Amino acid sequence: MVPVGLTLQPEVEFVELLDEVIRHEVDYYEVAPETLWRAGSDGSLEPNGFHRRFAALGEETRRPFVAHGVGLSMGSDCPADRARRKSWLARLRQDHRQFRFRWYTDHLGATSLDGLALTLPLPLPMNAQAAGVVRRRLAAMQRIVPHVGVENNVAYFLLGEPLEEPGFLRAILSRPGMHLLLDVHNLYTMAVNFGFDPEDYLERLDLSRVIEIHLSGGKPSDPAWLPSGRVMRLDSHDAAVPDEVWALFAKIVPRCRRLKGVTLERMEGTVTRDDVPQIRAELRRARAIVERHAQVRRSA
Ligand SMILES: [Fe+2]
Repeated sequence: MVPVGLTLQPEVEFVELLDEVIRHEVDYYEVAPETLWRAGSDGSLEPNGFHRRFAALGEETRRPFVAHGVGLSMGSDCPADRARRKSWLARLRQDHRQFRFRWYTDHLGATSLDGLALTLPLPLPMNAQAAGVVRRRLAAMQRIVPHVGVENNVAYFLLGEPLEEPGFLRAILSRPGMHLLLDVHNLYTMAVNFGFDPEDYLERLDLSRVIEIHLSGGKPSDPAWLPSGRVMRLDSHDAAVPDEVWALFAKIVPRCRRLKGVTLERMEGTVTRDDVPQIRAELRRARAIVERHAQVRRSA
């Protein structure tokens, strides 16, 4: 059956409040590798305290890990950024020896342009040249972790039409071992903000490439942020998974024949004691949906 996982955030409150959930409700852990490093005195990347803490947790619970970064910058190839990326991948190679990542993914987009870190991935032009850059990045990641992937991202402007993205992803993911991480809340958020039907996007998407699904929640933006007062849906990972995302998830699961994991994402700084029962219930709901699908498949 498809395992259910949870993101581990490098925050003491997060891991302490969710300790019981982390130990007993999930089959694997997802970590952002770069959040587990710090710069050493010679400029090299060293494990931070959470690196050691999560490694010890994995030893204790015998749960596997998957790596899901945000800052490698899949879609840019600036000379000013090459040394940084080389040192990240060297650190990742060391981490992989310890964590034995099942797969390694990052976001579709650019988080570094001409050496400037952008924090959140910016959208890419959806053309053959950009697809080639992302594919070369995946190939570099694949020399460390054999199964790699890219996640459909949330952007608040696009260089193209939103329904072009499935074709762009198809062009990127043309080689064995290169997979799609389908974030259902990201798709839902894009559909709300750009005004398209998520089913139209899914119809165009090669779901046989999906290795992992992300579930999460978000909130509407503050109307005061934009002069127009327009409210956008935010991919803020700080609230319950919305019903619309659950409905899409239940429809998608049977169509993702190579699905290897379903991960619930929650941002650090957004979990209080009151949120813990809801997070537990969401993990159980995700498990019930994949179980129901497995039963249907067995009896077919
Ligand atoms: Fe995600």
